[in-house]
Amino acid sequence: LDGVFTEKRLAGQTVLMTAGPTFEPIDPVRGITNISSGKMGYALARACRDAGADVVLVSGPTALPPPVGVRTIPVTTALEMHEAVLAEVGRCSVFIGVAAVADYRVVNRAEHKIKKEGHEAPVIELVENPDILAFVANLPNAPFCVGFAAESQNLLEFADAKRRRKKVPLLVANLAQQAMGSDVNDVVLLDDAGTYPLPAADKREVAHAIVRHLAARLAARR
Ligand code: CTP
Ligand code: CA
Repeated sequence: LDGVFTEKRLAGQTVLMTAGPTFEPIDPVRGITNISSGKMGYALARACRDAGADVVLVSGPTALPPPVGVRTIPVTTALEMHEAVLAEVGRCSVFIGVAAVADYRVVNRAEHKIKKEGHEAPVIELVENPDILAFVANLPNAPFCVGFAAESQNLLEFADAKRRRKKVPLLVANLAQQAMGSDVNDVVLLDDAGTYPLPAADKREVAHAIVRHLAARLAARR
């Protein structure tokens, strides 16, 4: 029913998105991940679909069913997410990075399950993952890029710095400890024109409000 009452504000757009957490293996049965549920990204994928866009969703591991009518590409690690985005980015007009991409991956990943008996506590060595959003935003023919900022303090200050650093025209800022895993979200949109707090609401409603703002920004560019 969603789609029936929604204006096709994103008709003709191809939207590539990332959502969910990534999982960075330590050994064959263990890894580093985070508390992202994928709910905000999946809600936004449905909202973009309902607004008439072609949607491709690159998703880390979540417990959610893939949105109907959205081509969903499942991945596990940040490197796999990066690869999948690279393969699709040439066809998209909008890129939205919602995923909580692990900032680091394990370098000394063990081939076999790490045993504790007779061993010291293992040392996990980390190396930084590529920044997928910053990479896409800096491409020569970059799509219109939307980022998310998960902060735990100084929300507006940190989010604005992040938006400038990554050179994304539109950023959605939220408090990580409130947003991640929750069914509701309380976000602030930041773009060149200013700061727009949205009312705290169900992630579905927040997603529709983000789409309205995105569509207006895309229309203003033409
Ligand atoms: N992001 C990404 N690839 C990464 C890290 C982040 O694409 N390796 C994207 C996220 O999907 C999000 C935005 O960048 O759209 C901001 O992510 P966030 O974790 O809030 O910011 P970071 O730049 O990683 O900075 P920090 O975690 O230190 O706050
Ligand atoms: Ca991060």
